[in-house]
Amino acid sequence: MENKIFYPNKEISKNALIKNMCEYQDLMDEAKEDYEGFWDRFAKEKIDWFEPYTKVLDESNAPFYKWFIDGKLNVTYQCLDRHLNKRKNKAAIIWEGELGEKRVLTYLDLYYEVNKTANLLKNQFGIKKGDRVVIYMPMIPEAAIAMLACARIGAIHSVVFGGFSAEALRDRIIDAEAKLIITADGAFRRGKPYLLKPVVDEALKEGCECVEKVLVVERNQEEINYEEGRDYLYNELIKTESKYCEPEIMDSEDPLFLLYTSGSTGKPKGVQHSQAGYILWAQMTMEWVFDLKENDTYWCTADIGWITGHTYIVYGPLAAGATTIMYEGVPVYPDAGRWWRMIEEHKVNQFYTAPTAIRLLHKAGEKEPLKYDLSSLRVLGTVGEPINPDAWMWYYETIGGGKCPIVDTWWQTETGGHMISPLPGATPIKPGSATFPLPGIMAEIIDTKGNPTPKGEKGYLCITKPWPSMIRTIWNAPERFKKSYFSTCTKDGKPVYFSGDGAMYDEDGYIFITGRVDDVINVSGHRIGTAEIESVIGHHPNVAEVAVVGKPHEIKGESIFAYIVLKGEDTKAEEMQMVQEINEMLVKDIGAIAKCDEIKFVPGLPKTRSGKIMRRILRAIAKGEEIKQDTSTLEDPTIVQKIQSCML
Ligand code: WT7
Repeated sequence: MENKIFYPNKEISKNALIKNMCEYQDLMDEAKEDYEGFWDRFAKEKIDWFEPYTKVLDESNAPFYKWFIDGKLNVTYQCLDRHLNKRKNKAAIIWEGELGEKRVLTYLDLYYEVNKTANLLKNQFGIKKGDRVVIYMPMIPEAAIAMLACARIGAIHSVVFGGFSAEALRDRIIDAEAKLIITADGAFRRGKPYLLKPVVDEALKEGCECVEKVLVVERNQEEINYEEGRDYLYNELIKTESKYCEPEIMDSEDPLFLLYTSGSTGKPKGVQHSQAGYILWAQMTMEWVFDLKENDTYWCTADIGWITGHTYIVYGPLAAGATTIMYEGVPVYPDAGRWWRMIEEHKVNQFYTAPTAIRLLHKAGEKEPLKYDLSSLRVLGTVGEPINPDAWMWYYETIGGGKCPIVDTWWQTETGGHMISPLPGATPIKPGSATFPLPGIMAEIIDTKGNPTPKGEKGYLCITKPWPSMIRTIWNAPERFKKSYFSTCTKDGKPVYFSGDGAMYDEDGYIFITGRVDDVINVSGHRIGTAEIESVIGHHPNVAEVAVVGKPHEIKGESIFAYIVLKGEDTKAEEMQMVQEINEMLVKDIGAIAKCDEIKFVPGLPKTRSGKIMRRILRAIAKGEEIKQDTSTLEDPTIVQKIQSCML
């Protein structure tokens, strides 16, 4: 089945922007023949510039590439103002609360709210161009409004996922030196209220002198604490603000936002994105990959705390003038039919979610979708991790009724937008394959010297030419930026962007992503560095050594598996106590997503004589695989068997 091909539906091809593989190839050739010319054409066509750029690409300070030099624009003008002629009464955001409440903001409504909020930030809090604002919010329209308000006045937002703990939030606030926090009292999840503001209070207890004010949006009216002189109520302050705020004139390369993501060290990286290149690619991919039409209702189920929420709930859809749905809660409340009911009710045309959610809903209610009319759907999308052919087939047949192309989009926080994906009207698709690079994207599977990997063999997934929406740097860490992305692979002797992923071409040249090759694991589409988890566990007073690996998991994709070496002897009862304590530490220091699924206490770790932990062996043991690797070079060759006997 893996190799079955599904051809595009003729109805979709007929009206698609890219109608067949010849048109795709033409675009690719155009980009290959005149790379800058290709991007110049789209940048001119798509963006409403305040002042034109003087040069498309500046490579003089590689890998700190610059795009659309000297161009002036404002991303909110691109997302809002310019739509007011044609679309002022069109729904921009359709929001649904978990308890069933609905709000619709037209483009005009959203425009006013963003302008008012921008005025509030500027006039009442003195936020200026370049200041950092941390947004710690639930999935409510004010989260998008806050992001756009920052963009309006040139402030740099850093959205922190609402599931992160106070400690994780604090680290991000301090690293970005944020001046303002925008949060909410709380929201609803699984039918119950939960709180965010107390997490902010906790985070601000230490080391956050940079923070001057906290702006609180009232969402669930739970009782929360207000600190005089620091905390302000959004719902009150917004009332007096005027409906127009002059958009700040931004340079193409001014930072638009930071978004922290995990790497292979213990410290998260503040991925910095730009204005023009980012919004251009957000809009282009939105139009190409989702086959967006004027009357469509588009729904991406991500959280705005991740890059998918940034690019494909907020910036991409709005730049493209689309109607984007925002949903507050979980997919299984009140039951596993929630999302399918929402698709029926809103007549959703494009639905974009993660394989982990598909597997969960498949398992929780295989027949649930049959109760609903899902015939409005035209394109289905997935993102975040490889999708297994089983889940793919269920999504294709049961959700899409066998008529909707699945766009399996490969990309990353660092890439800003889709890199490898089918085009719904053009690409014949295969379950589990992200297929081919998008036009203009030079994604290649190579070895470290830039030679293409033979078909059927694993290689490094690289992007061998800069692209407009690429990461510009890691906030405050330019050397780390170079080392993380431009030190593994070269092509024609020049460093190229390495994604951290392994991948493979099949016999037809289709790209299959095989997963991270670094010490990063992907749990339910969330990226977590093993080093981050290890550094938390290592702080437990009884822990001598720890190693964390990913283990394949039916629903989550990967689960977190920790091997722990204790100081001194222990008993079974103590071990159980430790498991609990360690998970409490992880929830406190990172968030619930970092909890270990399994913890094993072992007498030692497999290390080379130079002291390097052999994670490959630990991954194999966790999976219950036979160890084929030569273990004779280990510092203690008997350790493998000793660890294996602890698995029982
Ligand atoms: C990592 C990026 C990009 C938005 C969500 C995650 C994995 C992403 C796919 C896909 C296989 C995928 C990769 C990548 N990934 N999309 N379609 N097939 N793997 O963003 O947190 O930056 O994680 O997610 O391993 O490197 P992120």
